[in-house]
Amino acid sequence: MLAAFIVLILMYYKSPPSKKCPPPIVPPGQWGHKATFYKTLNLTTSPQSSTEALKKNKTLMLLWSWPENKRFDPQVCEAYFGFDSCQLTDDKSLYSSARGVLFFHKDIQDDLSNLPTLRRPRFQRWIWLNTDSPSNTRRIEGIQDLFNLTMSFRQDADIQAHWKVSYRTNTDEPFQLPKKERLVCWITGSDGLHTQSRESFIYYRELVKHIKVDVFYFAEFSRSEEYFLTISTCKFYLSFEDSIHRDYITETFNGPLAAGTVPIVLGPPRLNYEDFIPGDAFIHVGDFPDASKLAEFLLKLDKDYHSYIKYFNWQRSYIARPHLIEENYEFAHVVCKACNHLSVYKEYRAIPDLYKWFFV
Ligand SMILES: *[C@@H]1O[C@H](CO)[C@@H](O)[C@H](O)[C@H]1NC(C)=O
Ligand SMILES: *[C@@H]1O[C@H](CO)[C@@H](O)[C@H](O)[C@H]1NC(C)=O
Ligand SMILES: *[C@@H]1O[C@H](CO)[C@@H](O)[C@H](O)[C@H]1NC(C)=O
Repeated sequence: MLAAFIVLILMYYKSPPSKKCPPPIVPPGQWGHKATFYKTLNLTTSPQSSTEALKKNKTLMLLWSWPENKRFDPQVCEAYFGFDSCQLTDDKSLYSSARGVLFFHKDIQDDLSNLPTLRRPRFQRWIWLNTDSPSNTRRIEGIQDLFNLTMSFRQDADIQAHWKVSYRTNTDEPFQLPKKERLVCWITGSDGLHTQSRESFIYYRELVKHIKVDVFYFAEFSRSEEYFLTISTCKFYLSFEDSIHRDYITETFNGPLAAGTVPIVLGPPRLNYEDFIPGDAFIHVGDFPDASKLAEFLLKLDKDYHSYIKYFNWQRSYIARPHLIEENYEFAHVVCKACNHLSVYKEYRAIPDLYKWFFV
């Protein structure tokens, strides 16, 4: 265990690129626009069968239910995320040989009637997956002590659900600022811009009194390409979380980072965001006494290229990868990541009280 830990630490410290010669940031005038920041999903070969995976000794993870019934091609784990040591299956007849079983919290029935009834093999680990914040999580009684691994947005979960920026490597293209056509944008999932009582909507309504915001709806985008292109045309993007909790920082933050846009965040405190990215990569609504002062600041930045471009300094060392927005692939990342975790880490653990940890 200790040796593995030391190796991990060494790997971690070996990976950062040298800070000596950061690549230049190309100003927008020189930008020959070719959107290369997304990778189109193209799954051509047929998915590997589970028995084949067993033969190859890949770790087998059983997905007990497809989160929100969104079925995706398991091949995406390898094709898009590069996880190749684990095989995902939804075939319940393989229960007894699965190294791990992944349960999506929301899909568990209140009476637990859709949980496995067979005895759990000794080597098998049950993973609790919850991508919601505590205020949107239903308390289901009787599951507090069932799991061996947790997966959520919390940093102290065994597996974290976040999209993370990674260190930029020599093979990554240098960052280029995309052409900007809009000032502030927001893509929201919900109707009711004028009626919703969530903090994000209240703040939005204050903000639009002082500055123009272009609003789009998630439903308008079916492909990553259009989604990221649209965000890239905006100077600023409202990365407003739908509820405010420690570590609850979702794809709404990753989107603008990957697209080359400055996120304006509403969520946990600034310091919490700085656990994930340098503090000069985003604007926090809490940095301003109110929405009018924020608007004033944005209007000033709009006319000050040198101050604006500084928000992309983080891109010299890091790179954000676009997440998948294709409808059925919403949970592909977390599911693949869980599968990969199983194949890489072998820790043995039981969680005595899930809720005591999660609902704090
Ligand atoms: C997917 O990839 C295959 C082989 O690389 C190619 O022939 C096909 O045209 C691609 N499909 C799409 C939709 O890009
Ligand atoms: C798979 O594992 C078994 C038992 O550990 C071993 O005998 C076999 O050679 C392995 N197969 C491959 C392809 O690695
Ligand atoms: C998993 O958790 C269960 C329930 O707490 C426990 O009985 C079991 O020993 C754990 N198994 C592993 C492999 O950690």
